[in-house]
Amino acid sequence: MNDNVPVITLDGPSGVGKGTIAWHLATRLGWHLLDSGALYRLLALAAEQQHIALDDVAALTQMAAELDVCFRTGDEACPVYPLLDGQVVGDEMRNENCGNRASQIARYPEVRSALLDLQHGFVSLPGLVADGRDMGTVVFPHAALKIFLSASPEERARRRYKQLRHKGISASLARLSREIVERDERDRNRAVAPLVPAADAIDIDTTSIDIDGVLARVMAVVQQRGL
Ligand code: C5P
Repeated sequence: MNDNVPVITLDGPSGVGKGTIAWHLATRLGWHLLDSGALYRLLALAAEQQHIALDDVAALTQMAAELDVCFRTGDEACPVYPLLDGQVVGDEMRNENCGNRASQIARYPEVRSALLDLQHGFVSLPGLVADGRDMGTVVFPHAALKIFLSASPEERARRRYKQLRHKGISASLARLSREIVERDERDRNRAVAPLVPAADAIDIDTTSIDIDGVLARVMAVVQQRGL
């Protein structure tokens, strides 16, 4: 990994709007974008296609080590389009079921380690905006700027509902709320790389701030730090 390339990390729980903020930030700065959650979602999808059980750690780890993925930057509605084995992946990877399966796979340290090199490979000039759960704590501990976004579970469920509906993916708000809380619990309480802010992260509670407001705060720090 090239240590001279600046990295900005955006971590936080599901539905907080990391992907949208990361896309805006990367677009404004002209930097690359890493949607690390997509890697876990792709693994969940590939496991399903290949009939690999979600607790078959050896098979999942091997799949993670061989994952042939690249990203095409999209637009605000869909910040990143992953290509798996050169093929565009459909919207099924964005539904809550896939997110839940991804978080079950993400518990395993072996799988997480197998994805480290792949994630470091996204670092390239002029810079990288990386979003996920452990970007600032584990994957890019020396990042130039670390942001941790939070919002109430109700507000996150509402945002996720709006986002899925906008993409034409059917969803129930009550069910989404339950699933988001369940996924948060798993992500926060797992033994490796749990969802916690890095000690040197800037926390932004976005519950009552819109995207422009969050972006303005992040851009102010980006400028302060001369990035
Ligand atoms: O961010 P997204 O909702 O796409 O992530 C799906 C799941 O992948 C998360 O719930 C989490 O369990 C896992 N994940 C992770 N570490 C990351 C990104 C995502 O464990 N850096």
